Amino acid sequence: MGTARRRLGLLFLAALMAAAPGTHAGITSAYRRKLEATADMPFDADVFRLPTGYNAPQQVHITLGDQAGTAMTVSWVTASEPGSSTVRYGRGSPDPRKMKLSARGTRTRYSYVNYTSGFIHHCTLTGLKHGAKYYYAMGFGHTVRSFSFTVPPKPGPDVPFKFGLIGDLGQTFDSNSTLSHYESNGGAAVLFVGDLSYADTYPLHDNRRWDSWARFVERSVAYQPWLWTTGNHELDYAPELGETTPFKPFTHRYPTPHRAAGSTEPFWYSVKIASAHVIVLASYSAYGKYTPQWTWLQDELKKVDREVTPWLVVLMHSPWYNSNGYHYMEGETMRVQFESWLVDAKVDVVLAGHVHSYERSKRFSNVEYDIVNGKATPVKNLHAPVYINIGDGGNIEGIANNFTKPQPAYSAFREASFGHATLEIMNRTHAYYAWHRNHDGAMAAAADSVWLTNRYWMPTHDDSI
Ligand SMILES: [Fe+2]
Repeated sequence: MGTARRRLGLLFLAALMAAAPGTHAGITSAYRRKLEATADMPFDADVFRLPTGYNAPQQVHITLGDQAGTAMTVSWVTASEPGSSTVRYGRGSPDPRKMKLSARGTRTRYSYVNYTSGFIHHCTLTGLKHGAKYYYAMGFGHTVRSFSFTVPPKPGPDVPFKFGLIGDLGQTFDSNSTLSHYESNGGAAVLFVGDLSYADTYPLHDNRRWDSWARFVERSVAYQPWLWTTGNHELDYAPELGETTPFKPFTHRYPTPHRAAGSTEPFWYSVKIASAHVIVLASYSAYGKYTPQWTWLQDELKKVDREVTPWLVVLMHSPWYNSNGYHYMEGETMRVQFESWLVDAKVDVVLAGHVHSYERSKRFSNVEYDIVNGKATPVKNLHAPVYINIGDGGNIEGIANNFTKPQPAYSAFREASFGHATLEIMNRTHAYYAWHRNHDGAMAAAADSVWLTNRYWMPTHDDSI
């Protein structure tokens, strides 16, 4: 009772400070219901259930197969024998026998220390019609499973679309809560900001946890595309175990449409969905001057056409603006390298994860500094992106409850809770952003929300609250 009263008091104090005239302090939410990390769900949890039937396709997931949404790449695993890499698909019927189109995919597998993967299939379906619903099926010759997805609408300046924003998900009971809340909120595609399975937290990076994670998220990612970002838990670089190829499990399992985006590696790429141009950056691949990622991003920013895709969204794993003691300033070198480019390009939103809590920034930049002038203070800048950290998916490492004090001026709202967010683009000028904490039972209740105005179409409007 006393604790509850104290929390209410803190909440009141926080609200009072936020409302105080003449101050522009951000909010450090005192809401807290649970700080301890929960364990990973056990292998026999129902969310990890194997599909029934001999050699049944499992771990089914889809992602965009090209830059503009007329292709979808379907991936799955067969455990007992290779089986077929063919996908049948069509618009009319969920019955695989009536699906008129088919595509033949490729097959791969890999070993990691003492683990050997199942047969991993990737098959890209092309020639899709924007906005249309397709049924698709695989597993021919043994056990056939069928699913469906809706192709994202054709890119254009006023095409509404709702993204889910999830990061650092893992496979704990909290992760399951996050995914369920997201499903209830009804996004049409997920921008995933890295750290998927956390298999590397186990001895020998137990890769069976890559398999269980993919079975866990299948209920969403088999039905709508998720766009992948690489986090540190995708590295799986373990020379002490003889594993010296970075991103080995990830690259075998999770393709990205990087070639369509002119990228030479799957870790940085771009797609266009509805009114958004989404750029994915790689925090754990080289980004210094003249590196492939640096060169690619320079060219990519020139290709963005805000008349066609008004919303420019950038994803990365390690945040540039983060006022939490955990992973503090780990994104700093990338910020120094690229921040001025993003400000010049009038990027609307930068999404990151890595820090296991939630934080949203005001529009600030810190681009004036050079080696002699000493100007190293973030300042208000209406051309700058809003930075959002959503590393709060609920993984095994627990919550990052160590915010720096005082709250820096650029920080608008921060809270140490698990959750997910949505970004709902309405038209070329307005998008509704909302963060949902897991412990709110009412799915529609947003713990933090803001109307974002487009930096290209409404550059002088201050939505920096
Ligand atoms: Fe991370």
